[in-house]
Amino acid sequence: MDAHLLNQVNWDERAELHGQDSYYDIAGFLSGASSLREAELILAGEVAGRDLLHLQCHIGLDTLSWARLGAVVTGLDFSGVAVRRARALADQARLPATFVQSDVRDLPAGLREGFDLVVATYGVFTWIDDLGAWARSAAAALRAGGRLVVVDIHPLAQMIDQRDPLIVDSPYADAGPQIVQTTTSYADATKRLENQHTVQWSHSVGEIVSAVAAAGLRIDVLEEHLSTDHNDRPSVLTQDGDGRWRLRVWDYDLPVLVSLAATRA
Ligand SMILES: C[S@@+](CC[C@H](N)C(=O)[O-])C[C@H]1O[C@@H](n2cnc3c(N)ncnc32)[C@H](O)[C@@H]1O
Repeated sequence: MDAHLLNQVNWDERAELHGQDSYYDIAGFLSGASSLREAELILAGEVAGRDLLHLQCHIGLDTLSWARLGAVVTGLDFSGVAVRRARALADQARLPATFVQSDVRDLPAGLREGFDLVVATYGVFTWIDDLGAWARSAAAALRAGGRLVVVDIHPLAQMIDQRDPLIVDSPYADAGPQIVQTTTSYADATKRLENQHTVQWSHSVGEIVSAVAAAGLRIDVLEEHLSTDHNDRPSVLTQDGDGRWRLRVWDYDLPVLVSLAATRA
């Protein structure tokens, strides 16, 4: 089976499951909570009235959180189940939003040059074989002067399966497709997945930045974060007295997130 088709089947199953867990807190969202985190909020700045495209939007919680801040939002995902659930959530929350089912590597013509902001966060590049195609889609969606904002798991953190004792189970940079088996989803360890295999790709920070630059965008900010406000990886991150989560190996903090902002001239 084609790798992206295999992944799509896995994501359809996860999109059906997600939201019955505390990771995707739909009840909290419906009563007014935002699912957005500090890294993307800082980079995006003021979004009210701006046309925002959220790539790989999953079940739409973040997309709709941007809508609550006044952005005019479109979410894109290749999972038909995710798009259906995102549309239902928009109706439930009474928030205006458009959701489009599409492979991010092949931007629909109707979305070209339509956006002031393109955003993608947390679990972006590991699903993408061709970073160049991804970056060209993001660039093509932006109007002149528009901005791409990305926050993703840092590729070094992505390599680490367990912190103590240290287990490293994937490469740092692109080494071709890696077949990954996961018995449960990150959002809910209690439910076994039927479709347990996916294909994922490693991409170094250099590869990510070079792809964005090659798509014609000017890199404004590149940050490698040594702490985060959110625990995405319980087997890897530890919480310090300041409430923040870090990836400490021996006495040193490794980067947990990478973020970038880039502008279309
Ligand atoms: C880890 S989730 C993104 C998380 C998102 N920030 C959230 O928390 O809701 C990854 C998403 O990427 C989508 N995806 C993976 N490969 C894709 C592709 N080639 N085109 C479009 N969407 C894709 C999946 O369906 C999934 O919804």
